[in-house]
Amino acid sequence: MTSIGDLRRRTYEELTRPSYSLSRRDMVLLNDNANLFGVNPAVQEILEEFDFSRLWAYPSESSDVLRHRIASEYGLSPEEVLVGNGSDEILDISAKSFINPGDLFSSPSPTFSMYKFYANLNMARISEKLLRPDFSLDAQAMLSESPKLVAVCQPNNPTANLFDQGEIRKLLAWKGCAVIVDEAYSDFCGSSMLSEVMNSNAGIDVRTFSKGYGIAGLRAGYAMARKEVIDELRRVRTPFGVNSFTEAIAARAMDHKAWVDEVVSKMRSERSYLASRLETLGFKVYPSCCNFLLCKSPVDGPNLVAALRDKGVAIRDCNPYPLLENHVRITIAPRSMLDILLERLGPLVSGGSK
Ligand SMILES: Cc1ncc(COP(=O)(O)O)c(C=O)c1O
Repeated sequence: MTSIGDLRRRTYEELTRPSYSLSRRDMVLLNDNANLFGVNPAVQEILEEFDFSRLWAYPSESSDVLRHRIASEYGLSPEEVLVGNGSDEILDISAKSFINPGDLFSSPSPTFSMYKFYANLNMARISEKLLRPDFSLDAQAMLSESPKLVAVCQPNNPTANLFDQGEIRKLLAWKGCAVIVDEAYSDFCGSSMLSEVMNSNAGIDVRTFSKGYGIAGLRAGYAMARKEVIDELRRVRTPFGVNSFTEAIAARAMDHKAWVDEVVSKMRSERSYLASRLETLGFKVYPSCCNFLLCKSPVDGPNLVAALRDKGVAIRDCNPYPLLENHVRITIAPRSMLDILLERLGPLVSGGSK
């Protein structure tokens, strides 16, 4: 009998998908940078208004209501917006659109690991350029090998810093490649590279509803780019990629900017609290403009993450990343959750050694 392994696509032999899932409900999940301050009020509103009896119908093929809402929010035309099933789908679509097998994909390192995954799926050659020790970006190093697709995360996950906009402008000015500028965390930083992206040849500004907007479970994200670029992305997008319920909620969520602002302000004060408590426990805490902190553990990082998981708290182990030995990433949450973390963390780091 043919084994399933024999049927496997050979070009995927080496492929492993990064896994983030830790959905145990009894755990404190400080590992995936979701919005732990709550669910967007749009969810309750749409629950009351939505015509569930029409769920027999397909949604709009290109999520027209949401696309128009996003376009009006940013003063763009709907042709300059593409909606996806989470921004992950936008990253997937971008790699499919621009990478031929053997083309070079370039990203800084460390950064969000899914860029490399989607590039690998499309059989790109991968070039990861180390960030400088201060986590700054070297655009020239990324462009020196003439990549076909570049992905950069602004602000960067997991290092939590904003890159110099001038460096990202250099990437966008390069005519020979498409450039993903992933602004998943921009709601927390008040930063935006949208106008630079829209004025570039092949820039793609990627956003998500999973972070500041608080609907990660519904899966919605989007790309903004020049119409010619969006047309390319649309060629490979699956029709009906976003379900009609999600579409209605995401569109309404954009009306709840005040709620997002309130979350951001609470998050900032909890972030300061956590940073100072971690420093007291011997962690080196890096500056962050995001809803997470990167820090260097005073004890072995992977052991610490495993021990905390056994105690019901999930944080992200950054040890596998270059430059980040014994580093961990912790999502900012309301005080009650941070205090559970701190209470369980204390005994694990006091008197510990690497
Ligand atoms: C930088 C970055 N981009 C994209 C995503 C994917 O977000 P989603 O697929 O939920 O929109 C994440 C999720 O953690 C992320 O950190």
